[in-house]
Amino acid sequence: MSIYGDYIKSVIRTVPDWPQAGVNFRDITPLLQNSAAFRKLIDSFVHRYQELEVDAVAAIDARGFIIGAPLAYELGCSFVPVRKKGKLPFKTISETYSLEYGESSVELHSDAFQKGDRIVVMDDLIATGGTMLAAAKLIQRSGGHVVETATIVDLPELGGSEKIRQSGHNVFAVCS
Ligand code: PRP
Ligand code: ADE
Repeated sequence: MSIYGDYIKSVIRTVPDWPQAGVNFRDITPLLQNSAAFRKLIDSFVHRYQELEVDAVAAIDARGFIIGAPLAYELGCSFVPVRKKGKLPFKTISETYSLEYGESSVELHSDAFQKGDRIVVMDDLIATGGTMLAAAKLIQRSGGHVVETATIVDLPELGGSEKIRQSGHNVFAVCS
């Protein structure tokens, strides 16, 4: 957890029963509207990764892009999009996974980075962990080294971050 964790959590809205009954949806749009909070959020990630010789930030479609791109800019490293199926035009590799609601696939361009590159995998939220784990597998299959998986919100009660840790990856969450 970041030193700004409680503050960041306070500007994330929970919408009950969306997109379906029983899901407490963590809505980051109030955080994005608040320029001071958004800056503290990005600074939290910059502070964590600026000394770790990161070659690329691989961010997950779509909300991961919002935080992954400014982080890559600040670190002065590459930005790699991990996209939902059918969005990337060049040669891809893909992984299918289960969601808290439904199933999906993520894809990565085969030339997204160099073998051995040190990569932070970024998304806005970890629920069941399926999305983050699928993205981390794509990075590893492509010869990348996953420095850490990073997120704004972890929902530990859904077991995703624990599953990711058991797969051998560090998890950094700003709040939970
Ligand atoms: C959400 C969220 C994460 C994922 C987390 O994305 O942004 O990517 O679900 O769930 P998991 O840990 O159970 O895999 P969603 O697929 O809703 O896509 P979006 O970013 O395009 O809204
Ligand atoms: N993705 C999966 N579960 C979610 C939740 N509870 N809130 C926001 N995004 C999600």
